[in-house]
Amino acid sequence: MSKLYIITGTSKGIGLELLKFLCGNCNREVLSVNRSKINFESPYSYEFIHDLSIPWDSKSFISVLEEIFSRSRFTEIRFVHNAGTLGKIDPTLKLGVQSLRETFEINFFSGISIYYDLLKFTNRLDLKLGSVFVSSGAASKAYEGWAEYCSSKAALDMWVRVAFEEQHDNSTFALFLPGVVDTSMQEIIRATSKKSFPKVGFFQHLLSEKKLASPYVVAKRLGEYLLLDKLERNLLYLKY
Ligand SMILES: NC(=O)c1ccc[n+]([C@@H]2O[C@H](COP(=O)([O-])OP(=O)(O)OC[C@H]3O[C@@H](n4cnc5c(N)ncnc54)[C@H](OP(=O)(O)O)[C@@H]3O)[C@@H](O)[C@H]2O)c1
Repeated sequence: MSKLYIITGTSKGIGLELLKFLCGNCNREVLSVNRSKINFESPYSYEFIHDLSIPWDSKSFISVLEEIFSRSRFTEIRFVHNAGTLGKIDPTLKLGVQSLRETFEINFFSGISIYYDLLKFTNRLDLKLGSVFVSSGAASKAYEGWAEYCSSKAALDMWVRVAFEEQHDNSTFALFLPGVVDTSMQEIIRATSKKSFPKVGFFQHLLSEKKLASPYVVAKRLGEYLLLDKLERNLLYLKY
């Protein structure tokens, strides 16, 4: 039974390693959603270009999906909303609504919009849909300076929890907690001033103590779950 994988944010970090694992190592067909074209050549790789900070373009996305389905037959779509941003890092009183909206668009609304397009598409063709949303410890822990990141990840986390409780037919949900991973997101965190992010020293210490997980190892954990014949019905948190 063949599956089409759809992953947001495969230009770097966990997303790029997941693309390399599924497409490069395991010859699975992957449609990446990125804001610009990436340098990854494979006959199994497709791309949809969209900046996720602006409202989602359902019409163009569905026509790309239809084109892919006109060439290959799939029985299931597995979707991973991995793209994410820390947004603006500063005390809440210094933040404005514009930047908060953009952060929510990337971390929350884009993933949910893609999910609803896929739900309609899979229902129409009677396919299964499995979705994994990449969450964060910041969804349930408040860090000073991270109002945008914490609140947008909390929204995503709670949306998935509600959907999960409802137990929909033909549609499974999981949240993935990657831990602290050695990607550009951590570089941004470590480069933030203590004034904007008082806990910066903790994250700098994690690097000097070699406590960061490799994006390859983390992506492999997620990739192995995505390769399962049947996704577990009762999985809420998949952790690295
Ligand atoms: N690294 C960690 O320690 C950690 C911990 C917990 C959770 N996470 C979560 O894991 C996921 C992956 O993070 P990562 O560490 O791999 O970060 P990363 O290396 O910074 O990669 C983030 C990905 O999201 C994409 N993205 C960001 N803004 C976008 C936009 N406007 N439109 C389209 N794509 C956009 C980036 O694309 P561009 O190249 O175009 O920017 C990139 O592909 C995120 O959801 C993050 O919140 C990470």
